[in-house]
Amino acid sequence: MKEIKVGIVGLGRLGSVHAQNLAFKIPGCKLVAACSLVQKELDWAKDYLKVEYTTTDYKKMVDEADIEAVVIVSSSPEHCWMIEYALDAGKHVFTDKPLGCSLEECKRAEAAVERHPDKIFFLGFMRRYDPSYADAKAQINAGRIGKPYLVKATGLDPEALVESCIKFSKTSGGIFIDAASHDIDLMRWFLGGEVTEVYAAGTNFKHPEFAENGDTETGMAMLKFDNGTVAFLHVGRTAPHGYHTETEIVGTEAHIRVAGVPWKDRVMVYDQYGARQEIVENFPQRFAEAYLLEMVDFIDCIQKDRKPELTVYDGTKATLVTYAITDSFHSGKPVQVQY
Ligand code: NAI
Repeated sequence: MKEIKVGIVGLGRLGSVHAQNLAFKIPGCKLVAACSLVQKELDWAKDYLKVEYTTTDYKKMVDEADIEAVVIVSSSPEHCWMIEYALDAGKHVFTDKPLGCSLEECKRAEAAVERHPDKIFFLGFMRRYDPSYADAKAQINAGRIGKPYLVKATGLDPEALVESCIKFSKTSGGIFIDAASHDIDLMRWFLGGEVTEVYAAGTNFKHPEFAENGDTETGMAMLKFDNGTVAFLHVGRTAPHGYHTETEIVGTEAHIRVAGVPWKDRVMVYDQYGARQEIVENFPQRFAEAYLLEMVDFIDCIQKDRKPELTVYDGTKATLVTYAITDSFHSGKPVQVQY
């Protein structure tokens, strides 16, 4: 199989995970170029990952480096123009979530994908590749829970990382935009419908800074779907025990729970406090396998000229729903989702 030469933009919290997977763990590809605004990250890519070409200029990387594919893990507002630039330059594109930060940006990405049907466009909603979520979906498809009609999604960041969340809350667009797009994607995937209406609220009892920044430390939302199903979302920044991502899918015949308790591993410590197991600490730890499997699939799609299941339109829909939830949170009123 032909070796695919890849360039990556963004080497931060998540970009460094993808870059290491591309450099060391994925058969059939070679990471040859890297771009970041941070020189220290580029030095790391050269020294540790042995990347040949590094630059702070994204357009230069796309135009000059010897690459067939671009992996975009830059800050969210940069995604859509970078997608457009790479596709127009004849590259295959992987982009991490969110697709874009507004409907206009998403439409720009959609148009670029439509202009280049011969290129692979891959959207990084990696939870679909997590073995537990994939198993849940297979069980639903096999009819084991009857008709799925309710999804309850919980996504809590650990209190241990709250300071960085507070800092980020000034510019992130708020907790729903920052943290809920994976849950929206899973809800659409499991329930097989589109969101029509949302109603959101929030509470702020521990860190007033979130409210001062126009955000909230805990957010809740109810979602109605066009096929009569419903969902409930709970996102937060103050989980005392660790990184808690839990999803329940309720069907007419059975329920499925993914990570009801987010165990880190199977180790149990027996001490003066009782018998205890540790909890996952952060997203790279919880979803390490999913990040790897989605990138394996991206390279495989290019090699076999096969389109992935997720499309650019899934990205637009998730973005629209997170913005509608944010509108409802600020207005205190139910908001219809317009596609
Ligand atoms: P970060 O702030 O740690 O890193 C951002 C990186 O992008 C840096 O290397 C920076 O130099 C680079 N960058 C930004 N603008 C650039 C430009 N114009 N040209 C070249 N490089 C540029 O951010 P983090 O947390 O790694 O997030 C990156 C993206 O990944 C975001 O869009 C975020 O939503 C997404 N993400 C997805 C997750 C998932 O579970 N799928 C988890 C965390 C983040």
